[in-house]
Amino acid sequence: MTNETEKPEFWESSFLEKQEMWGFEPAKSALLTKDLFLRENVKQVLIPGIGYGRNAQIFRDNGMEVTGIEISATAIEMARKHYGPGMTIYHGSVCDMPFDNKRYDGIFCYALIHLLDADQRQKLIRDCYAQLAENGCMVFTMITKDAQTYGKGTLISKDRYELHPGVQMYFYDREAVQAEFGDFGLFEITEVNENFPFFIVKCRKKYS
Ligand SMILES: C[S@@+](CC[C@H](N)C(=O)[O-])C[C@H]1O[C@@H](n2cnc3c(N)ncnc32)[C@H](O)[C@@H]1O
Repeated sequence: MTNETEKPEFWESSFLEKQEMWGFEPAKSALLTKDLFLRENVKQVLIPGIGYGRNAQIFRDNGMEVTGIEISATAIEMARKHYGPGMTIYHGSVCDMPFDNKRYDGIFCYALIHLLDADQRQKLIRDCYAQLAENGCMVFTMITKDAQTYGKGTLISKDRYELHPGVQMYFYDREAVQAEFGDFGLFEITEVNENFPFFIVKCRKKYS
């Protein structure tokens, strides 16, 4: 079940209209995360908000099995067309996680969390951490307050703006990352430019 803030129709119409709107090259942070996952000997990767799969293939090319979650049926069809049937992709909202009872040793969530409201962001972090295998790593990327768009559009709540109809974004600073991820094995915050300034946030699941 989705609610107003999850905007399935926004993403569906975006993919219908703009198709492979980010091209086929993986994002810089996907390449950096692939190196981390290789060092960590990750085998099973979960990608919430997988889109049409451009960030998935780099993990598969390096021997990892990828499972995705995606709200747009059109994006899932595009992923199948370009990358074949070899990936399980659950059609639904990350707000309805978990979709399976697997444990993943790597989770990569690119440019999705900043689209959610505060409760949804916290639930996503908690649900991802719950699906992480012991000693597994989860990596999130998100827009920062250094973006030129920060403060533009309609203020929805603190640091959250509606930039275009249907796109609400929460802009992070390091304190916000610490507040949201601090209890979930946060061990590193770095910065990367992906057309917009992004943080790369890394967490590791501690042995219980
Ligand atoms: C900014 S895009 C990033 C896409 C992709 N990771 C990439 O760059 O190739 C966000 C993606 O998350 C999907 N998405 C947005 N809200 C979602 C939700 N609540 N649950 C699952 N997927 C969602 C969108 O359809 C889109 O594919």
